Amino acid sequence: MGKIKVGVIGAGSISEMHFESYKNNNGVEIYAVCDLNEQRAQEKAEKYGAKKHYKNYQELLADSEIDAVSICTWNNSHAEISIAALNAGKHVLVEKPLCKTIEEAYEIEKAVERNIGKVLQVGFVRRFGTNTQVLKSFIDSGDLGEIYYAKASCIRALGNPGGWFADKERSGGGPLIDLGVHVIDLCWYLMGKPKVKSISGNTYNKLGNRANVENKSFYKAADYEPDKNTVEDLANAIIRFENGASLMVDVSFTLHAKEESIAVNVFGDKGGAEIEPQLQIVTEKNNTIINSTPQIDSLSFDFHKGFQNEIDHFISCIKGEAETISPVQDGVEMMKILVGVYESSQKGKEIYFE
Ligand SMILES: NC(=O)c1ccc[n+]([C@@H]2O[C@H](COP(=O)([O-])OP(=O)(O)OC[C@H]3O[C@@H](n4cnc5c(N)ncnc54)[C@H](O)[C@@H]3O)[C@@H](O)[C@H]2O)c1
Repeated sequence: MGKIKVGVIGAGSISEMHFESYKNNNGVEIYAVCDLNEQRAQEKAEKYGAKKHYKNYQELLADSEIDAVSICTWNNSHAEISIAALNAGKHVLVEKPLCKTIEEAYEIEKAVERNIGKVLQVGFVRRFGTNTQVLKSFIDSGDLGEIYYAKASCIRALGNPGGWFADKERSGGGPLIDLGVHVIDLCWYLMGKPKVKSISGNTYNKLGNRANVENKSFYKAADYEPDKNTVEDLANAIIRFENGASLMVDVSFTLHAKEESIAVNVFGDKGGAEIEPQLQIVTEKNNTIINSTPQIDSLSFDFHKGFQNEIDHFISCIKGEAETISPVQDGVEMMKILVGVYESSQKGKEIYFE
């Protein structure tokens, strides 16, 4: 098999991680780039030696040289582009979240089923972090027993990025769909992907984007506009699964919190673990509780390694050497959870799945 020719659609911030990781993979040629902003597409094409650049993704997909695409656009175009790419015979790596709605998620799933032999991998990059993979090996060998509780929190005191992130039409929501998707998926994956039974969620639009705050910097999207914001600033939820396990989550773009924080934990009947901020495993032996810290290069999520592992795995799956650990069905299940939190909050009551 020759080099796999890849096109990257959406040449903004996160595309950089895709480009860098493809560049490091010997089996790949970065062949084309597409962005609505043509200059951005051209700059990335020059930087990474891509032969072609496009403004319109349909033109990129019509190029029969291209084997696979990364979709790094705003969330509102993930479904449309994923389906078109599969129908054009391309393998697809689509950034999280899979899309904006459950209906869209089912449409993508159908397109995967129709296009037999094409890989679609969802960009749940935290699954590919070393800390996650090490912990997964302990869980798979039974060291934590049955996991019945997980807790995920990702709090920004000030950090609504603005631009499309703050525009519900293009993003589908705020911190829940942007940050929550990562930490909820991480717990759900480590819990063994139980089926969701019910959700009780709350979202709040109390603080706005706090563009007035001075002397504290935060990441802003390229097209930041101080007076545009239609997304929640805090979301929390309790998610109950069919096997009786439960997951508690809270995430914010802004909150009157003392500082930024991330904390992700899973608890089983034989042991527990903290995944973020630092991997620690808690067990009991000889009537003694033991906290163990693995000796690994990075105890928290290693961003570059995580993306490299994700892209390398995608390429192995295309070559038929592996089956993706992040398939479309997981993207669909995650959309059910995310949309379920919004729905529960809007209805003011717990919602149930059949
Ligand atoms: N895995 C992660 O950790 C991670 C981190 C950040 C963002 N993301 C995801 O990556 C995606 C992009 O986020 P970003 O931070 O790079 O945003 P960004 O605004 O920096 O870049 C998005 C780019 O996509 C282009 N674009 C939008 N719609 C397009 C279309 N239909 N055709 C061609 N180009 C289009 C925009 O012009 C822009 O250049 C989002 O889905 C986001 O959720 C994932």
